[in-house]
Amino acid sequence: MKTIAVLTSGGDAPGMNACLRAVVRTALHNGLQIHGVMRGYEGLMDAEFIPLDAKAVSNIIHRGGTILKTARSKRFLTEEGQILAAKQLEKHKIEGLVVIGGDGTFKGADELQKKTKVKIMGCPGTIDNDLVGTDFAIGYDTAINTVVDAVDKIRDTAESHERLFFVEVMGRDAGLIALRSGIGAGAEAILIPETPTHIDDLIKRLERGRKNKSSKIVIVSEHESAGGAFVVAEKVKKQLPYYDTRVTILGHIQRGGNPSCMDRVNASRMGFAAVEALVGGRTGEMVGIIDKQICYTPFANAVKHREGLDLHLLRMMEILSL
Ligand code: F6P
Repeated sequence: MKTIAVLTSGGDAPGMNACLRAVVRTALHNGLQIHGVMRGYEGLMDAEFIPLDAKAVSNIIHRGGTILKTARSKRFLTEEGQILAAKQLEKHKIEGLVVIGGDGTFKGADELQKKTKVKIMGCPGTIDNDLVGTDFAIGYDTAINTVVDAVDKIRDTAESHERLFFVEVMGRDAGLIALRSGIGAGAEAILIPETPTHIDDLIKRLERGRKNKSSKIVIVSEHESAGGAFVVAEKVKKQLPYYDTRVTILGHIQRGGNPSCMDRVNASRMGFAAVEALVGGRTGEMVGIIDKQICYTPFANAVKHREGLDLHLLRMMEILSL
């Protein structure tokens, strides 16, 4: 193997740059040439390659976002797009590829792998953490700390005004951001897509703890079953009109910012391991860290994330927050 490439794809996540830095420097250490692919799979189909050296990735370990840019490519979902991407890799004599991204990135990598002999390894980069094969995806730790920081601030004003706040967080169809940040922020309730939202149960919960608390925070994961923070707030308000309620949607603030130390270290370890795996002949797998150990999961298994949520944490949170 002489030349490899690296791309970032899907939603950006804090720590992607740290991973990129590790990939580039490990490749150079192994005597490989390395190209960055701009804009994820879009740039791969258009052969937007840029040569990378050690300097190109200096001073980026602490920066959020991705210096290679990213995209959610519709074109790459098609068979023609995947064949074109495979042809570009072969035309440019690229023998190994590292993809950094989430669910969609690995579904794409799995399809691409079927159409090329080029070896492909992945590093999990998604704030949603919705992948099988790693305890923490790159970006998740930073995102939950961003949420906890925001909710702490909301708690100050909620407490002063004795209000009930509904705070909507990201996670697409996975409740992991909501669950962990909700526990960390001491939320009174957490609504996630993995379990149905029953408004009557929520109301009972809020009422049960009313005497103990002057403020209340409900963390609402996007795509939970009742319709999102505004709809839930409306339904609750109808039955509990004496609550002064407010809604905050945290939105893309959760995707930005300097990566936490944990994200930087995990990203460095996974980027390093991905290149060593390519050099060692591995392909078709996502690198992850489980119980502090590097491990490898085939792309097709990495995306089966529904199995991943620890519902015991939800039960624990319900007991602790009253
Ligand atoms: O996958 C990361 C994520 O931030 C999800 O939590 C969210 O649902 C989605 O991306 C938003 O994507 P976009 O920025 O493309 O609207």
